[in-house]
Amino acid sequence: MPIDALLLKEEGAALSRRIKDLTPQILAWYDGAARVLPWRQNPRPYPVWLSEIMLQQTRVEAVIPYFHRFLAALPEIADLAACPEEKLLKLWEGLGYYNRVRNLQKAARTVMAEYGGRLPDTEAELKKLPGIGDYTAAAIASIAYGRPAAAVDGNVLRVVTRILASRGDILSPAVKKAVTALVREMIPPERPGDFTQAMMEIGATVCLPNGAPLCGQCPLREECLANRHGLTGEIPVKAEKKARRVEQRTLFAVLSQGRLLLHRRPAKGLLAGLWELPGLAGRLDQAAALARLEKLGFEVERITPLPAAQHIFTHIQWEMTGYLAEAASPLPLEGCVWVLPEELEHSYALPSAFLPYARLLPRHSAPPEKI
Ligand code: ADE
Repeated sequence: MPIDALLLKEEGAALSRRIKDLTPQILAWYDGAARVLPWRQNPRPYPVWLSEIMLQQTRVEAVIPYFHRFLAALPEIADLAACPEEKLLKLWEGLGYYNRVRNLQKAARTVMAEYGGRLPDTEAELKKLPGIGDYTAAAIASIAYGRPAAAVDGNVLRVVTRILASRGDILSPAVKKAVTALVREMIPPERPGDFTQAMMEIGATVCLPNGAPLCGQCPLREECLANRHGLTGEIPVKAEKKARRVEQRTLFAVLSQGRLLLHRRPAKGLLAGLWELPGLAGRLDQAAALARLEKLGFEVERITPLPAAQHIFTHIQWEMTGYLAEAASPLPLEGCVWVLPEELEHSYALPSAFLPYARLLPRHSAPPEKI
């Protein structure tokens, strides 16, 4: 840990020198307090990999049903590699960040083609696969293969910077590197996977990010300098993130003869290649929206405003204006399809951003909530 980041220089430096002494109590706590999670029993590489990808941006409770459904549909890497895209996206519908599942499939195809169907077992080889970065590679290597790999995510950064009362910016590469080095020292050779999960578990269930952490339940409460000195409100330190770009968007739910118009988004960029309700940048009033549809060739029988809606992506925020338009006939349009409600439900994955409007459509029962 960069020494100048330590709020209590001598105590922090001394504790970081003996950091590995904390491992036994972390493991003992994990043995008694860990949640029973489906990927923890008999951790096979493919389910561990799948769970780590699902958990990258989604909470544990939300992941569990998706995890079971995905594995039931695609029980082996070979099934994932061979799965048609629409079915794959449907299995992911509601989890968001669809590049995760696209990369998962790309990686599965590489595993089939280049690794004889077996997920590689070292961090270096794992990191060559799409969608697997430092953290995920180390998590898989330690949990599925018992390798002494240091998996450092936001949870672990928070736990370690609090233990040492470090005000280093946890989003900085220097702090991540220092924490990774410390965690590596702490890994017990006989239980690397349990140790990885124990650190995450402390972060997820005890050393909570916002509001008061549950220090009374923490196995490290005696040693943790942030707890001892009342600093858990100030640590971890995160540099200010750039504000999200706010974009206005007008969307159309165009219905005709019981079918809904969907448009495929461009192959690159936000929600790349996914189906969407057709729309455009900017906020159109009703007259302008009608004019736009007529210009496309629609004979619009009725147009009704839908409630305003918002969707937050990582770097962009959409402020959406929506119109329900009933058209006389389902005009063929390039890049578009007309789908029946049951097709929308079973075959076309609609990203969560569009659900506020898709939910309002007749006979469409909503897919699971996005987290
Ligand atoms: N978050 C990321 N990976 C996890 C895991 N294996 N168990 C619980 N939470 C996690």
